[in-house]
Amino acid sequence: MSLLITGGTGYIGSHTVVELLQGTDSQDLSKEIVIVDNLSNSSTKVLDRLEQITGKKVTFIEADICDEQALDKVFSEHNIEAVIHFAGLKAVGESAEIPLSYYQNNVSGTVSLLQVMTKHNVKNLVFSSSATVYGNNVSPLNETMPTSATNPYGQTKLMVEHILFDLAKSDPEWSIACLRYFNPIGAHQSGLIGENPNGIPNNLLPYVAQVAVGRLAQLQVFGDDYDTVDGTGVRDYIHVVDLAQGHVKALEALGHAKGTVKGCQAINLGTGNGTSVLEIVNTFKDISQADIPYKIVPRRAGDLATVYADAALAGSLLGWQANLDLTAMIEDTWRWQSENPNGF
Ligand code: NAD
Ligand code: UFG
Repeated sequence: MSLLITGGTGYIGSHTVVELLQGTDSQDLSKEIVIVDNLSNSSTKVLDRLEQITGKKVTFIEADICDEQALDKVFSEHNIEAVIHFAGLKAVGESAEIPLSYYQNNVSGTVSLLQVMTKHNVKNLVFSSSATVYGNNVSPLNETMPTSATNPYGQTKLMVEHILFDLAKSDPEWSIACLRYFNPIGAHQSGLIGENPNGIPNNLLPYVAQVAVGRLAQLQVFGDDYDTVDGTGVRDYIHVVDLAQGHVKALEALGHAKGTVKGCQAINLGTGNGTSVLEIVNTFKDISQADIPYKIVPRRAGDLATVYADAALAGSLLGWQANLDLTAMIEDTWRWQSENPNGF
């Protein structure tokens, strides 16, 4: 049997592939891994690194999830039993500039994937959703809260969630985990894979890491007048390896594995803890011993003061919780960044 990983050469996908190839204590999940990625935001160099880390090979197919014929071929040639669907575009700012590309890739692409899965009777899915679907709810955020979106990227995640809920309602054979990620950071401990953004990073950690390594001159801290511990924004940062292990647990909980996920289930993957921007900067400074110049600038439009998860459901439903602390997250980010100063 095979597992299909869309977007598997990307940041979270590549870390998940490592965890899948290395198996888990409870169940051997080291099956054939088939990655489909159009390489719009990743490189095939990741494949060598995956082999270096695990000693195993994956099957890589360069294809776009919007291309139903190509997907059909993948399902015809491999005995796929479940899909983890990471592929998509993810930059909030860019999504407001080119919304159609976001709706095309994230929504139409997912519908194409679901059509082909239905045709081949593969009805087990783990989907990359986001805490962005909680809109302006007050933290801690739990899965029963009403959802909303404030930008096209968030809309695409919400639309796909609605599609998945409708699909599961229409056919009880579907088993779907919609994993709502909080803020993934960190890198694999080997220093061989990590986050590799194109251009100037939008997110805090890659930005701080590039300042520390000397690629960028100065961090801009977006606002110090929030009602938080030091006035800067607070987020629930989660180590990408913990997040990856959450996917393995989710896969084990799907219908084909006779697990606990029935129909379509939204599940937070976060730590339940909040950390401010300045706490991140100071911890990064301590660990890297690098200078991290920053200046306080006005708030970024659309940002909330505080966002963190209620992570209880993932514990009870999947038997998963985050284990790695902020020190590990930043040590691993720094190892990746300092050993690969210009990415791949
Ligand atoms: P990433 O850009 O590193 O990985 C996404 C991968 O999908 C890339 O390798 C890209 O080349 C590929 N891809 C994009 N469009 C495609 C298409 N049409 N067909 C085939 N491949 C395509 O991003 P990531 O951080 O690993 O995120 C993975 C998923 O998790 C995304 O769906 C993202 O929206 C979601 N997510 C990410 C975060 C985060 O902060 N990183 C937070 C919440 C949710
Ligand atoms: N920040 C700065 N300077 C920067 C970048 C970020 O001060 O250069 C601050 C932000 O204001 C915020 C915090 O750092 O307080 C984290 O910002 P990120 O951009 O790293 O992350 P966000 O929480 O804004 O958004 C992320 C993903 C979204 C996802 C969301 C949901 O980028 O895609 O988490 O959890 F939807």
